[in-house]
Amino acid sequence: MAGEPVVLGIETSCDETGVGLVVGGELRANVLASSAAEHARFGGIVPEVASRAHLAEMLPTLSAACRTAGLGLGDIDAVAVTSGPGLAGALLVGVAAAKGLALALDRPLYGVNHLCAHVAVDTLVAGPLPANSVALLVSGGHSSLLHVSDIVTDVRPLGATIDDAAGEAYDKVARLLGLPFPGGPPVDEAAAAGDPGAIVFPRGLTAPKDQEQHRFDFSFSGLKTAVARWVEQQRADGTAIPVADVAASFQEAVADVLVAKAVAACRDVSADTLVIGGGVAANSRLRALAAERCRAAGIRLRVPPPGLCTDNGAMVAALGALAVERGLPPSAGDFGADPGMAVTEILNPGPGRSVG
Ligand code: KG4
Ligand code: ZN
Repeated sequence: MAGEPVVLGIETSCDETGVGLVVGGELRANVLASSAAEHARFGGIVPEVASRAHLAEMLPTLSAACRTAGLGLGDIDAVAVTSGPGLAGALLVGVAAAKGLALALDRPLYGVNHLCAHVAVDTLVAGPLPANSVALLVSGGHSSLLHVSDIVTDVRPLGATIDDAAGEAYDKVARLLGLPFPGGPPVDEAAAAGDPGAIVFPRGLTAPKDQEQHRFDFSFSGLKTAVARWVEQQRADGTAIPVADVAASFQEAVADVLVAKAVAACRDVSADTLVIGGGVAANSRLRALAAERCRAAGIRLRVPPPGLCTDNGAMVAALGALAVERGLPPSAGDFGADPGMAVTEILNPGPGRSVG
């Protein structure tokens, strides 16, 4: 490998076909094709539709990424692909494409964890992550607090949602309010014109009795139900729904709990850096509240720009590039898609092998 390694990243775990190119830790291309519009009328992702869209978009997205970066396939030194977690059929498309490419180019292939990639993407913007950091990972399918000693080799869960993920709560509340799918962006937008103190919605798992067992866990199902009940009551009373106020009050409840627990987790493990990743990290209120409370607590906050928070190929290339830089062994050729991949498994070594 002459000069800085060129690492290609392929992401297909959900509804975004993403291809990223990272050269020596620098982002050169990040191209996305989304099937979100095809799922909108169902109010959620339809796995088969997502898989077929990945198949159609894989080669055009790959070509566009190479064009953007001014690189040819032959310039690629290593290939990284999301191995899991995610939708089985969707993951399979990316893994099959990456295997074909790695085999044809005779380059090493790294099957990486989507959740860790959401954290690793921040290194493209803010440089190496300090050795003792906390990550708040908030996406459509996951909400977790992680103790990150080393994003390529040592990630440990501190807590996670016991029911809905934060993004899922956004999507469900958007539906209740008649806003489109995915719900995060329209709720965020509607909230800008609302009063976050208009309605006091519950903060899940923050009562003193929850501190022992669920200190760093989340629950958003009760919040979603509370919003549904409130909206139903208004409708029963024949009152118009104040969409902006409901959105702002719901958003405040989500951001309040996420930030409070993240700051407490930093204190608990004596971390001075908090990184927030995943689609919900694009949320304006979460970003503002985290900045405010981290400043007050003396914690350094790192949040990637919104375009790198939602699913993309750059995040996969970023984690792959770190594995290459460390000289970690690539995945065995027979590694597969792993829909339930645990967050502690940062790289998929393949059946019967262990990494590092
Ligand atoms: O990480 P991501 O792109 O996909 C998964 O890995 O799940 O996250 C998607 C989730 C969706 O639930 C979407 O509604 C939410 O992220 N999201 C947001 C915002 N943008 C996307 N939630 C709140 N505010 C936003 N601005
Ligand atoms: Zn994601």
